[in-house]
Amino acid sequence: MDNKNKKIGTMIDLLLLQKEFIMRHLAPGGVAADFTMGNGNDTAFLSRAVGESGRVYAFDIQSKALESTRRKLLAEGCPDNVTLIHDSHANAALYIKEPINAGMFNLGYLPGGDKLITTMTSSTMQAVRTAIELLAPGGAITVAVYPGHAEGKAEGVELARYFATLDKHIFTCTEVRIINSPASPYFTLIEKI
Ligand SMILES: C[S@@+](CC[C@H](N)C(=O)[O-])C[C@H]1O[C@@H](n2cnc3c(N)ncnc32)[C@H](O)[C@@H]1O
Repeated sequence: MDNKNKKIGTMIDLLLLQKEFIMRHLAPGGVAADFTMGNGNDTAFLSRAVGESGRVYAFDIQSKALESTRRKLLAEGCPDNVTLIHDSHANAALYIKEPINAGMFNLGYLPGGDKLITTMTSSTMQAVRTAIELLAPGGAITVAVYPGHAEGKAEGVELARYFATLDKHIFTCTEVRIINSPASPYFTLIEKI
């Protein structure tokens, strides 16, 4: 295959990098949230990371996502520590009444699902603000953005604007992106000191 048509093979590494980052901030017994559960890959990862004594809150607006996540958690023998919530992550404060040690956002649409049902800038911003408010000292959040579609690009612009306002004495916000492939997914890692 010539180089021009080769698929950029770094996406999987970016996903792994996010998980490694989260693992540095999450221990057994911790509390985590998957704000975009989708097919449950991140929910299952968080469930294993916090173990039997921990707790995971997972949100999605599509019942299909809850069904496939429930199946995945069972199939993978994950600990019974996950609360699946069929609601927008914008309402996370109604469900999470304790500090979280880690949160993950994987924005966009359900892989293999309806591309019109995607995360939207206003609810994403509300949810990210809530996640930042809930974050415990020493905790971390990852936000993966997909700028290859219009709404994803808009989310990325708003998020970057917001992250830039966070007090650098309390938070560090690091953006990881492939600068010679501007439409590729990228993510921000947020740590609370
Ligand atoms: C890219 S997928 C997430 C993939 C997922 N993390 C995984 O491991 O499979 C994005 C998900 O966000 C969900 N979503 C869209 N708007 C949402 C909202 N307001 N609140 C919660 N989830 C939302 C979509 O339904 C979709 O399932």
